[in-house]
Amino acid sequence: MTAQILDGKAIAQKVREEVREGVARFVSAYGRPPGLDVLLVGEDPASVIYTRNKEKASHEVGMRGRLHRLPADTGEDELLRRIAELNADASVDGILVQLPLPSQIREARVLDAIDPGKDVDGFHPVNAGLLATGRPGLVPCTPKGSMRLLAEAGARLEGARAVVVGRSNIVGKPMAQLLLAAHATVTIAHSRTRDLATVCREADILVAAVGRARLIKGDWIKEGAVVIDVGMNRTEDGKLAGDVDFEAAKARASWITPVPGGVGPMTIATLLENTLRAARARLG
Ligand code: GUN
Repeated sequence: MTAQILDGKAIAQKVREEVREGVARFVSAYGRPPGLDVLLVGEDPASVIYTRNKEKASHEVGMRGRLHRLPADTGEDELLRRIAELNADASVDGILVQLPLPSQIREARVLDAIDPGKDVDGFHPVNAGLLATGRPGLVPCTPKGSMRLLAEAGARLEGARAVVVGRSNIVGKPMAQLLLAAHATVTIAHSRTRDLATVCREADILVAAVGRARLIKGDWIKEGAVVIDVGMNRTEDGKLAGDVDFEAAKARASWITPVPGGVGPMTIATLLENTLRAARARLG
């Protein structure tokens, strides 16, 4: 079998178009656009690019988007003060603090301080708890975007064996919750799982989110599986590689996401969706 490519770029464009229409309706109803505020502490080059892209994407769908850049030596109290201001500002619907944070700032204290209704990353424990109890509020962007890719591939999730490789709060755990809610039988594996190859070979749906270039080999893929590769790894030769050996996996999967151009573009598109959703929930 040769897999069909799940074109995240094209599907993300479709999502952005949907959001743009939703934003126009929101503006007609409430007389102002949804507002997204992104906080970046420090100068990490990848984070600078990601946050600029988020700001630009919000403008492209007609939202009010603002990037707040704070110096690398910003203290925890100052960041918490900025979050409190945004929590109290009625024109702000979504707040996103870019991760990772510098070492003087405790991530958990910051994430806990964001109003759960404005937590468009879905990282607040209230949103994580709602997802885990089957009544999702704001859902983390990368897993939500990955579910959209599965839907676009027409993947049957009910009763399917799904394996999620990776157990982060940002991707692995919420992805497993979403698949479970869609009635898949879900295994969460990770870098210390014994005989990872055998576990992966069971998967009708395989989601790779471990952050190790080409860890998952072609012969670990079940014939006809749908493969979602969340990995974005820089290889020694400076190229981007996913967690899956793409060329080998393509020969066995039915659908597979490329890296880049698979899950990546879905993350920002889903952030825009979450911002619109948060805005509607606050005013609707
Ligand atoms: N850093 C890498 N991915 C993410 C993300 O999805 N949200 C935030 N806030 N920071 C990140």
